Amino acid sequence: MSASLKVVTLLGSLRKGSFNAMVARTLPKLAPAGMGILPLPSIGDIPLYDADLQQEEGFPARIEEIAQQIHEADGVVIVTPEYNYSVPGGLKNAIDWLSRLPEQPLSGKPVLIQTSSMGAIGGARCQYHLRQILVFLDAMVMNKPEFMGGVIQSKVDQQTGEVVDQSTLDHLSGQLTAFGDYIQRVRR
Ligand SMILES: Cc1cc2nc3c(=O)[nH]c(=O)nc-3n(C[C@H](O)[C@H](O)[C@H](O)COP(=O)(O)O)c2cc1C
Repeated sequence: MSASLKVVTLLGSLRKGSFNAMVARTLPKLAPAGMGILPLPSIGDIPLYDADLQQEEGFPARIEEIAQQIHEADGVVIVTPEYNYSVPGGLKNAIDWLSRLPEQPLSGKPVLIQTSSMGAIGGARCQYHLRQILVFLDAMVMNKPEFMGGVIQSKVDQQTGEVVDQSTLDHLSGQLTAFGDYIQRVRR
């Protein structure tokens, strides 16, 4: 990879012991040469989207902060669980706020999706709902390779809070390398 790439992670889980947070936390050390990966601020304290609130008080500071960091990034990795076969409400809420900004930060932005779950298929159903949402935002979502971390609780070290399963690590690093190439292609 020739140029240096700045990538940010958007985490869809709010809980302290989140397995998806463990995946996100593992990514920086798996990034290919020339790619830096940093976490975006938490989406946990963003109020529920309400057009009246937007009109009366403007956008929440946290949304402005996240949007600014997405603008400055070359790509975004969304790392999230699946809730009830779909996108967790907190993540959908953050995306709804971001989507109303005059300079919508995900428009044209390369995006990578990673889902992990305690179930066998690793949040696959969430991925397709998330892709559908991101179509409307004009995000450039990479198609393949996908990452669906099934039975993720058996692939992490809960003490260090990071992924330890070698085949999962290999899969994630291969996907990040592909994402770096994808970002370069989208930029051309
Ligand atoms: C409200 C809720 C809905 C869930 N729905 C699903 C689901 O549809 N599919 C699935 O595989 N796991 C589901 N789970 C289990 C999650 O995969 C599991 O709680 C996972 O650890 C959440 O991710 P996190 O550890 O990053 O917080 C659900 C959990 C919650 C709390």
